[in-house]
Amino acid sequence: MENNKTNEKTVLSLIQPTGTPTLGNYLGALKNWAQMAQDYNCLFGAADLHSLTIRTEPQLLRHRTMELYALLLALELDPEKNIIFVQSHVPAHAQLGWILNCYTQFGEASRMTQFKDKSQKHADNVNVGLFDYPVLMAADILLYQTDYVPIGADQKQHMELARNIADRFNGIYGDVFKAPEPFIGKSGARVMSLQEPEKKMSKSDTNAKSFILVTDTADVIVKKIKSAVTDSEAAVYYSPEKPGVSNLMDIYSACTGKSREAIEDEFRGKGYGDFKAAVAEAVVEELRPIQERLAKLQGEKDYLQETAAKGAEKAARLANRTLGKVMKKVGLWK
Ligand code: TYM
Repeated sequence: MENNKTNEKTVLSLIQPTGTPTLGNYLGALKNWAQMAQDYNCLFGAADLHSLTIRTEPQLLRHRTMELYALLLALELDPEKNIIFVQSHVPAHAQLGWILNCYTQFGEASRMTQFKDKSQKHADNVNVGLFDYPVLMAADILLYQTDYVPIGADQKQHMELARNIADRFNGIYGDVFKAPEPFIGKSGARVMSLQEPEKKMSKSDTNAKSFILVTDTADVIVKKIKSAVTDSEAAVYYSPEKPGVSNLMDIYSACTGKSREAIEDEFRGKGYGDFKAAVAEAVVEELRPIQERLAKLQGEKDYLQETAAKGAEKAARLANRTLGKVMKKVGLWK
């Protein structure tokens, strides 16, 4: 990587190509990626191996991975100065994943709440990959001696597991892995469903009104926010008793940078109509430049392919250093 960044620390995060990312993915993770890409040595990518835990048409998975890669470039993450790649293009992820399996206890992996949630949601396909998924995520992170991992709050437990695996391995073999820290933003870390604000916004929700996709048109965004569930009080303030309004305030805050207090002042004496219109406009304006760049990039298949190949080459060079060290430490004959 070029070394003209103001900060030498390494940042890594991935996102699954299971569908078009939501506003939750964007505000919880991708927006922070774009900011960190300016200052840190960053690796960002599509976690396509993780997506195999849910059965998807092969054509569709390939298409979604390429679309997601285009979206990452549309965020202006700068593939010359950062490494933008696809997980399966770098074999070291799966290789280290296997080795780390042997340093992860069944009991600690069983405690992952996302596994419990997902195995209920996909009860007909509770595969071993779904169980093992946080260990592969640990491998993604530990391969690059990562300092910070920008994620939404739902990934915090997986990060703790990654740190525990690193500590255990280092305890046996000496300092091999750096212990990574999660980076979770103040607003937008947990964007909730617009229809059931006690639940996280998720692209796999069966009710399309519950989420906003980063590719939704302005009209669709306005409609979805207009129909967002609130309450009967018609007053804009932050409270656990007002999860719908609090969620919209968080979204507004993450898009505009305004504090909760400033938002309460702005809408004092005004109804939900004005508030929702302002939130919708802020979301539309936030996503507009990304959507414009994405529309241009989608047609440039050769460029996307070439850039992904270069990204994988750069990532593999770094990853293989750590993998080589690990293989030697555990006693694999090289
Ligand atoms: P994934 O693909 O489910 O989500 C990608 C990122 O979006 C965040 N996110 C949210 N943030 C706020 N509100 C929401 N409603 C919301 N929904 C999702 C997630 O926290 C995540 O940061 N296991 C990961 C992908 C992964 C990864 C990694 C991440 C694979 N390897 C290594 C970091 C480092 C996942 O499934 O994220």
